[in-house]
This record gives sequence, C-alpha cells and structure tokens, in this order.
Amino acid sequence: MSRAVWHRALLPRCWFLLLLCPWPGGSHPQCLDYKPPFQPLEPLVFCKEYSKFGCCDVEKDDQISQRYYQIMDYFDYSGYLTCGKYIHSILCQECSPYSAHLYDAEDAHTPMRELPGLCGDYCGDFWHQCRYVLSLLTESEAAIGIEDDRERFCAFLELKDPHYCYPNVLASAELNANLGTVRADPEGCLQLCLQEVANGLRNPVAMVHARDGTHRFFVAEQLGYVWAYLANGSRVDRPFLNLTRAVLTSPWAGDERGFLCMALHPRFASVRKAYVYYSVAVKKEERIRVSEFTLSASDVNMLDHSSERTLLEVVEPASNHNGGQLLFGHDGYLYIFIEQATGAGVETLP
Ligand SMILES: *[C@@H]1O[C@H](CO)[C@@H](O)[C@H](O)[C@H]1NC(C)=O
Ligand SMILES: *[C@@H]1O[C@H](CO)[C@@H](O)[C@H](O)[C@H]1NC(C)=O
Repeated sequence: MSRAVWHRALLPRCWFLLLLCPWPGGSHPQCLDYKPPFQPLEPLVFCKEYSKFGCCDVEKDDQISQRYYQIMDYFDYSGYLTCGKYIHSILCQECSPYSAHLYDAEDAHTPMRELPGLCGDYCGDFWHQCRYVLSLLTESEAAIGIEDDRERFCAFLELKDPHYCYPNVLASAELNANLGTVRADPEGCLQLCLQEVANGLRNPVAMVHARDGTHRFFVAEQLGYVWAYLANGSRVDRPFLNLTRAVLTSPWAGDERGFLCMALHPRFASVRKAYVYYSVAVKKEERIRVSEFTLSASDVNMLDHSSERTLLEVVEPASNHNGGQLLFGHDGYLYIFIEQATGAGVETLP
C-alpha cells in the first residue's frame, strides 16, 4: 500500500500506534514467549511469588525446581544456606511478569540473555557470597573464568536499566500497581484486540461510524465507493455512495487522487447529511471537491445521489501530494485538509 494511502487511512494508523505503545515508554509485562503474563491455574510450588501473576504454569515451575535441586546437590549445608536463596531467585525470574525485560528478549536484534539481568548492588552481594555458583548456572563461554573479577562478573550479569533489573523491578510501584488486574474476555482477548470487520476492499481510505444508534459504520474506497456495514457485520449490497463515475483516479497504485474521505454531520441522527472529499476533473482542470449529500428518504443505507451540493473546489494539479482528511471539530466547524505541492493547508467551513 502506498505511503499516501496510509496517511489518509487515519483510523488504521491510530490502531497501529495503539498496538505499538500500549504502555507509555514502551515497557510492559511480557513473558519469554512474547505472550502476556497470566494467573497460573494452580498455585506454584517453587516460584511461589509468581503464583498470583507471572509467566509460569505448574509444569514450568516444576522444571525450575528440578534444576534448582540438581544444582543444590553440589552444595554442603552451609553453601545451601548462603547461596540457595540467590539461585532460587535467579532461576525463578523466568516466571516474572517482566521476564521478557529481564532476559532482554524484547529486542530481536540483540541476543537474549541466558540469565536474568541483575541490579548492580544485588550482583555485588551475589559475587561476595556465591561467585563460584556461576558455572553451575550457565555454560556460556562469556562466563568462563570471570568469577574472580567482580567487574567482569557483574558486567556479565547486570542489567543496566535500574527500573527493570532484578530485584528493583519488584519494588517499583509504577510497574507493579496494576499487575494482573486486566482480565481476558471469554474469547481470550486481553486489552486491545483486533477483529476483522471488513475485507475484499480496494484502497480503503476512511472508516466512519454512524453514531446514530444504528451501530453501522461506513468504509470508503479510493475508487469512489462508500459501503455501509450493519451492526451484525454484514455489508449492504448496494453502495451507500457510488461516485465512481465522477471521481478522478487511475489504476496506478501510486495515484493519490480519488475519493479521499467522508465525514458525517456531527448530529447525523437528526441531520442526515454526509460530507465527502474527492478528486475531480472540471473542464480538464484537476480539482478537489468537497460536497454535501443528504440521506435518501427511502433507504437509510444510501445517500440520495441527486442531492449533491458542492461546498468547495480547489485546483489541485498534481496526482500526488493529495491530502484529503475531513473532520468535524467540537466547535462544529468542518475542517478540510488540503495538501499542496508546497505543504499542507487547513480550511474551515461553518
Ligand atoms: C444483518 O441484518 C440485516 C438487516 O437487519 C439483515 O438483512 C441481514 O440478513 C443480517 N445479516 C446477517 C448475516 O445476519
Ligand atoms: C456505480 O456506478 C457506476 C456508474 O455510475 C456503475 O457502472 C456501477 O455499476 C455502479 N456500481 C455499483 C456497485 O452499483
């Protein structure tokens, strides 16, 4: 799809933004498999602190616990007392709701860590008490022979982000306040989920909800069609508006001319008028036209095609740099976005 079409497709663009940044700052709870954290069906036996909300089910918890006891076989009782808690905590970070952060799994361009990222102080304590445990926790070549050098040891284990390293990540009120409060709906949708509502369209450029109690919405195609989609999801066979004959465009994929937008009257439930924006040739001169149509008296899912009232025409000689957004402001004005070869302009009509 051409850049211009994305520019015009205001709604899909907003969805994309929402998808990419559901949390300010781009940080959010996420598991190593990129899925959202969850509440395990049964409480965890080993990594108990993540029983309420985290990234492990009972099976994973059991695997971690087996690994822990294999490692602990190497220790005598005093070593067990000193180092057991560190090993327990480090292994259990796989169950943290922030495990994707702790293991650097979020950025596909950097390798994932084998061990979770520790905070500097915590790493220092770990080094003092249990540095020789490292070779039991990882077989990574980067970890060989670094036990005696605190700096190299912690350079290997530290996560530089002070908010997301372990154990700080558990202490941050901001990161932990609402953990686990969002519930999936019966279809398994958490937070923002996308559902297909229309397909088979050619260059859809605008999507407008009727907001008149019918729960219909309309989708416009660059070619010059506007289609009505009813509350039950079905599309009305006959177009809401068919301006294909008047609209100036071409089959060339990069052509930015065409039907570009539709806005409904802010009180559409009572004032049955729609405003459209399209390219048109008037005596061989290329223009954009903004006009008004009234809803058909006999069919609520169609505009009266003979009711067109032209509000504005502007010469627009280029087949690219076409703007095309129409929006009603809260002030009741209709805002018309016109892109010119030299920049963009906005006109308003009361
Ligand atoms: C949707 O509603 C319309 C109008 O009520 C009806 O004609 C159509 O058959 C319905 N479609 C489906 C798939 O239920
Ligand atoms: C739209 O209008 C054109 C000509 O005005 C006509 O040929 C075409 O069949 C119409 N399309 C639909 C889907 O009604």
